Amino acid sequence: MATISLTINGSAVSVGADPDTPLLDVLRNHLGLVGTKFGCGLEQCGCCMVLIDGEPVKSCGKALSTVAGKNITTIEGLGTPERPHPLQQAFLDEQAGQCGYCLPGILVTAKALLDCNPAPSRREIALALDDNICRCGSHARILRAVERAAAAMRAGAAQEAGR
Ligand code: FES
Ligand code: FES
Repeated sequence: MATISLTINGSAVSVGADPDTPLLDVLRNHLGLVGTKFGCGLEQCGCCMVLIDGEPVKSCGKALSTVAGKNITTIEGLGTPERPHPLQQAFLDEQAGQCGYCLPGILVTAKALLDCNPAPSRREIALALDDNICRCGSHARILRAVERAAAAMRAGAAQEAGR
């Protein structure tokens, strides 16, 4: 048992747990952040993806001890029902999901992409999401939603710059 400090969605958090505990278990079972999903537990499906210092990482394969002092962003850190992130709004507008189980991982991975590449090509979006499996086969709508969000974010940035 160890106490490990990290930052989750902008808040400092200390967790008392076995240092080998997967970050996914810490998020879901210790902190109640159940937006991040358990799929395979084998770093194969991507539905447990979170951002660690801005980079997409599969949290099922990441031991708690390795994220001490890091900044973690989960789906709960993106937006709220009242103020959705442009990606969340675009996914709603495109109805880019069926069961939705893959979407928390896909949304944070797409956020990491748009944070560093505001105008990705469809191929770049597909490559960025290569590690995220959608069992429902919603890939075409997911790609459209990321393109839609990118356009909305660029328009918002241009509007902001014009003020
Ligand atoms: S649950 Fe982590 S990759 Fe599938
Ligand atoms: S919407 Fe069901 S797994 Fe992607």
